[in-house]
Amino acid sequence: MKALKVGIIGFGTVGGGVYNVLQSFKDIQIVKIAVKNINKKRNIENFDETLLTDNAYEIVNNPEIDVVIEVAGGVNPTFDLLKTAIKNGKHIVTANKELLAKNGSELFRIAKENNVIILYEAAVAGGIPIIMPVKTILCANKITKIAAILNGTTNYILTKMAEKDLSYETALTQAQELGYAETDPTGDVEGFDAAYKIAILSTISFNKKVDINKIYREGITKITAQDIKSAKELGYRIKLIAMGQVLENGKIDVRVHPMLISKKHLLAKIDNATNSIMLSGKPVGDLVLTGAGAGADPTASSVVGDLLVLAAELESSDRPIPQAICNHNEIADQIDIGDTYNEYYLSINAGNNPGAIGIIGTICGKNNINISTIMQNGINEDNTAEIVVITEKSKESDVQKALEELLKSECIIKINNLLRVMN
Ligand code: HSE
Repeated sequence: MKALKVGIIGFGTVGGGVYNVLQSFKDIQIVKIAVKNINKKRNIENFDETLLTDNAYEIVNNPEIDVVIEVAGGVNPTFDLLKTAIKNGKHIVTANKELLAKNGSELFRIAKENNVIILYEAAVAGGIPIIMPVKTILCANKITKIAAILNGTTNYILTKMAEKDLSYETALTQAQELGYAETDPTGDVEGFDAAYKIAILSTISFNKKVDINKIYREGITKITAQDIKSAKELGYRIKLIAMGQVLENGKIDVRVHPMLISKKHLLAKIDNATNSIMLSGKPVGDLVLTGAGAGADPTASSVVGDLLVLAAELESSDRPIPQAICNHNEIADQIDIGDTYNEYYLSINAGNNPGAIGIIGTICGKNNINISTIMQNGINEDNTAEIVVITEKSKESDVQKALEELLKSECIIKINNLLRVMN
């Protein structure tokens, strides 16, 4: 293998993992590592401090460097750094889902113009190999559906809520204390991280550019201990699901939201910070890939894997495998959440009045919503009742209309939650 010279931008958890794994590959030479704080003490044995710089442009403009590994995250200044690196003829290996979801089109366009490639296995589901398999060995397939748990933090929180009957707030605090959730957890708990990942994965799976701004996104902050309890009683677990599917009319449905998942479903069994991807394609059928979606070692496995694939390709030719080059000129026709059809879980707080369930049934019926299960477990101390409804497949816009009507009814006090269901 030809010795490859790399520069690493970012030296946090993932950067440290990449550095460690690269120590076993003598044909890869780390030329420079860009960090935010050059004076920070690093607990690495025999570490050569002269590798460090606090100016990442020293990497992207360094003529000696063949490949830039970007594990810093965020859009600023990474977008400009990577554009500069590409224009300087450097190949890119990145774990940056946000940058690729928001600005991937431009980066891939410039990469093509400059005859360099961008590999990004680590950007989706950390250590799980999914990007390269979809782009290479699965390319004989028409992939029609993806349903995935792509965010470990939220899966950890939902798992602890279910295991220990915790509120969302308590489970989040514990996840923060244990280092699973960040101090500002917004990116994870509001579904942004999963949305970036499903945007990237849907784009390469369906061969059409998916617009991150058109992805319906709902996080887990409104899930209550009561929702988890009712879901359990009905035979479901609650998970944050990122899904993408090609509909019969060719439109693309991509979204991220919590779902009640039947306990029998494989995704219902994925607990703690683990990620899992179910993918359906023709001719391959259904595939499930499960593993660590984050962490220094699993993410380094993907980053270094990309780097070694690149090294091997560059060894044999100066034009890497065509599948590794992104070619998504067609824009996906993404449908609005209002036009989707789903089964629903509806939790309603009603007054203890005769006819409350009748009113719910009438309003659902009027809006083409067929109820499949209805559950009420007695009366609360405040003389109200929690009524839980599971519907058959209904149109989202009809369900939203029914919710408005329910709220106008005197005996309905509050809609506690509306969640979609997967069986
Ligand atoms: N914050 C992500 C997660 C890992 O919780 O899964 C990095 O994408």
